[in-house]
Amino acid sequence: MSPKQFTLIINLFIILLILSTSIDSNTLIERDNIDFTPCTGEFCCASLAKKIAEKNFAHVATIAIVNKSGYNITHLPVTLEDGRFVKHDDHENIDINCEPQTEPLVNDQTETFSSITSRVFGGVKGIAIFTINDGGSSTFALFWNVPTIGPPIYEIEGLPNERYYNETKYGLDNTLYQVTIHQYEHVKNAVVNVWFIIPPYFFPPFIILFVSRIITV
Ligand SMILES: *[C@@H]1O[C@H](CO)[C@@H](O)[C@H](O)[C@H]1NC(C)=O
Ligand SMILES: *[C@@H]1O[C@H](CO)[C@@H](O)[C@H](O)[C@H]1NC(C)=O
Ligand SMILES: *[C@@H]1O[C@H](CO)[C@@H](O)[C@H](O)[C@H]1NC(C)=O
Repeated sequence: MSPKQFTLIINLFIILLILSTSIDSNTLIERDNIDFTPCTGEFCCASLAKKIAEKNFAHVATIAIVNKSGYNITHLPVTLEDGRFVKHDDHENIDINCEPQTEPLVNDQTETFSSITSRVFGGVKGIAIFTINDGGSSTFALFWNVPTIGPPIYEIEGLPNERYYNETKYGLDNTLYQVTIHQYEHVKNAVVNVWFIIPPYFFPPFIILFVSRIITV
């Protein structure tokens, strides 16, 4: 084997290795099922980030989390292992904040943040840990990884499945990952039902009132 052939084979091997590590068949994103109108409302950051990325040959991932949990949702500071957030001054004409917000996410509200490549041959990789303020402090995490070569990988982990379910959508050539957190109807109803099932006279104040009435009569 000539040195040239040897180098070629080594290069091919490296390329195969990179491809095989970046493709996870379980989380391959193939769908593009979000109805999209350029830069309106909640998809504005996603659209903007994608345009900026295309212009710069960069990778991009926009995460949108929709709160239909019935509770406030908060998150820890969002961590980027690779890349940076899209900022106000990344685009001349649109004044829009595509960084994570610090206020709690109220019901029916969507939080969107976009991350983009920050170095040559870089990818985008991050994690966001959320808490549903339901008294039990249910937590879950979103992960995203857009490698330099290979398809993007998005994941949700840890959502308490007995109370909540997630609805996941991918859009804009898989640069947008939208997760909606719902509370199961039967869980919501169960909370209401408890108050119907427990008769009021089981509550101590009523018992005291009841007893004191008997005594005074
Ligand atoms: C939810 O967040 C809003 C806005 O910050 C706040 O006013 C409200 O008190 C919070 N509700 C709960 C139940 O924490
Ligand atoms: C999240 O949604 C629930 C209702 O689905 C709402 O009551 C709650 O205020 C929301 N949380 C925040 C922080 O907006
Ligand atoms: C999210 O929803 C999908 C189905 O849409 C389900 O397969 C998956 O287990 C859910 N993940 C979590 C963490 O609840």
